[in-house]
Amino acid sequence: MRGDPLDYGYVRPHTFRHKTESPRPPPNLIHSAILGAEACVDKVNLAQKFSVFTEHYKPKIVGEINDTYVKLVKFQGDFMWHHHDVEDELFFVVAGEMRMQLREDGAEREIIVRPGEFIIIPHGVEHFPSADAETHVMLLEPKTTLNTGNVTNERTQPVLQRI
Ligand code: NI
Repeated sequence: MRGDPLDYGYVRPHTFRHKTESPRPPPNLIHSAILGAEACVDKVNLAQKFSVFTEHYKPKIVGEINDTYVKLVKFQGDFMWHHHDVEDELFFVVAGEMRMQLREDGAEREIIVRPGEFIIIPHGVEHFPSADAETHVMLLEPKTTLNTGNVTNERTQPVLQRI
């Protein structure tokens, strides 16, 4: 086994989580083993991921970091007012232009978020995402986050597709 660089059978996660074996595998495989990941670590190309779906307001899971999902979503038109009781949400605009309306202290305002910019909506804050033209957004939010927050309606996506 030691002589064959393609045979990584000795870094199976169930083996590696509990004890360190010798010889040590390459660092990227240690990382993968600790995560319990089935596949090797690989990069994600946002343009490629955005090319494989067309629906609006249906987030897709493209990664996870501890208790957080990395999601991609396409916005076009209005979403809806909602809030999240416990989760904060990060919206990073990749392409297009997102309008985020907010209700704070009884007043409404809106923030335009453009490519290369992000906005964090703290839990409890009423917000209403929309976009005049198709807009591509990456989300970082706890795995418990429901897209429509405190509201359940035809836009609610309880189970998200992984792409
Ligand atoms: Ni939200």
